[in-house]
Amino acid sequence: MDSDKIDIVTGGAGFIGKNLVERLAASDRRVLILDDLSRGGQDRVVTLVQDTRVHFRQVDCADADAMAEALTSVGGELGDVWHLAANSDIPAGVADPRIDLHRTFQTTFGVLELMKRAKGHTLRFASSSAIYGSFGDTAIFEDIGPLAPISNYGAMKLASEAQINAAVESYLPRAEVYRFPNVVGAPATHGVIFDFVNKLRATQDRLEVLGDGTQRKAYLHVDDLIAAMLHISTLDGRRLTFNIGPSDEGVTVRFIAETVRDRVSPKAAIAYGEGPRGWVGDVPTFRYSVQRLMDTGWKPSRSSAETIVRAIEEIVGPEPQV
Ligand SMILES: NC(=O)c1ccc[n+]([C@@H]2O[C@H](COP(=O)([O-])OP(=O)(O)OC[C@H]3O[C@@H](n4cnc5c(N)ncnc54)[C@H](O)[C@@H]3O)[C@@H](O)[C@H]2O)c1
Repeated sequence: MDSDKIDIVTGGAGFIGKNLVERLAASDRRVLILDDLSRGGQDRVVTLVQDTRVHFRQVDCADADAMAEALTSVGGELGDVWHLAANSDIPAGVADPRIDLHRTFQTTFGVLELMKRAKGHTLRFASSSAIYGSFGDTAIFEDIGPLAPISNYGAMKLASEAQINAAVESYLPRAEVYRFPNVVGAPATHGVIFDFVNKLRATQDRLEVLGDGTQRKAYLHVDDLIAAMLHISTLDGRRLTFNIGPSDEGVTVRFIAETVRDRVSPKAAIAYGEGPRGWVGDVPTFRYSVQRLMDTGWKPSRSSAETIVRAIEEIVGPEPQV
């Protein structure tokens, strides 16, 4: 990495973006956050730009001209691009597929257009386990197929990967595709813990859970995720694709509901819904293989269960002093 250049982090005002920007700035990188603030985050930006190496411009990352202007305005030559901007409200994208078309796919298209013009070096893309669709109890490794996403979000992430692949074939020097699992930690902007905590704060005696609680998924702490991304960024290759996740088989929604309930409102009753799917586009069970990544020397520091317990503490905050 060349420290005179400026890295772009799209979606840098979001949950994972904020954590990533802090890590990059701490390692003396100049960073330009591009975010349209469609998911809020003004407060996070105010904190981040206190570091003089960090700049922010509010732009729509589907618009390559606007991003090029933003880059010129902070006076820098483009380094690498960490592309995290996307729609993170999966049910919203099911209700209106144009949300995922725009925020999840067209932002990737815009970023590639910018990199073609500004000759950025590496594109680091936040993809998702949602590109795979449903494989039940079969361990999902990177080359499994056929890929059949069941949400518009997953479909637009897969389309983004395809577009990036074509770019590497012609003008993009290098692409790293990170297929994230469920990522948790603070400052949460969405996700199962965030939802349960907010529901229990609104209605202290009852927690309603979407689905019957048997959904089982792997969870990774955002610190482990960023450590994995930085590790991959040091590996050789022109086109790298990795599942990132814990090495266990995950925890159930029931475990998360009970752990949040015990921490936030211990007397609350938990009301489960019917069937194993939480919502349309929810994959009820999946087993993720992270063997390819572990073979390169990386390993997660926590299990899914330890990650959930820690993230609940971070999201709920300290106990009030009596
Ligand atoms: N959190 C997870 O569990 C998880 C899992 C798999 C993949 N991912 C991916 O990781 C990335 C970051 O996720 P997150 O959890 O931090 O979500 P987040 O919603 O907190 O952050 C996404 C950011 O993108 C911004 N954004 C959306 N559309 C934009 C646009 N058109 N132009 C500019 N900015 C735009 C939003 O304002 C938001 O700040 C996303 O690409 C997401 O799909 C996250």
